[in-house]
Amino acid sequence: MSADITRFKQQAAEHAVQFVESGMVVGLGHGSTAAFAVQRIAQLLRADQLRDILGIPCSRQVEREARRLGIPLTTLEEHPVVDLTIDGADEVDPSLNLIKGGGGALLREKIVAQASQREIIVVDESKLSPVLGTHCPVPVEVVPFGWRSEFAYLESLGARPTLRRKADGTLFKTDQGNLILDCDFGPILQPDQLADRLNARAGIVEHGLFLGLATEVIVAGRQGIRHLRREL
Ligand code: A5P
Repeated sequence: MSADITRFKQQAAEHAVQFVESGMVVGLGHGSTAAFAVQRIAQLLRADQLRDILGIPCSRQVEREARRLGIPLTTLEEHPVVDLTIDGADEVDPSLNLIKGGGGALLREKIVAQASQREIIVVDESKLSPVLGTHCPVPVEVVPFGWRSEFAYLESLGARPTLRRKADGTLFKTDQGNLILDCDFGPILQPDQLADRLNARAGIVEHGLFLGLATEVIVAGRQGIRHLRREL
């Protein structure tokens, strides 16, 4: 990853942390961009500039990191409504619809997003896209039972699916013990329709189309930082 991209990720994430207020329940997103927000929140807590934050991590990995940094955590059982979540994305369209799940945490990320009053997405400018699917595949989380049937179903919808593996060649398993099929659909002209078809399938646990969930997107790039808000 280029130094510029890393800097933009950090700028977007740290900009979003301005909206975190003492006493809030905060969703902690997964991925390299959201990680900068987690670090910044921890820094502000240590400096006593923020108090009484309770974090809800979107993955086991984020949970470990937040604990290591000393951020107090809670659960959706204890706090079913999240004041504000800061998370990353893999692709963002002009309506602020997203593809997420490059890091494999899409199910928990979507649960936390749907429970959040504000869902602030933080990205570097390379994530902006005219049409979802232009730059990256849609991750689809499937239960191991019958995954080949889901693979065939996804092909019937026009995807070229790939079973996700780790760098060492072993299967990638989500925090729920499921598999991920990364589905290249090419540009997705009707994401709502595709989401409906994915939602209708029993073996598909969740997918990375996040439609109408981001309330705001903070984009950092060569022109500076932009704060985009979803039109209601
Ligand atoms: C995690 O499952 C994803 O949804 C991430 O939010 C997404 O992949 C963005 O990752 P980076 O911030 O590392 O680019």
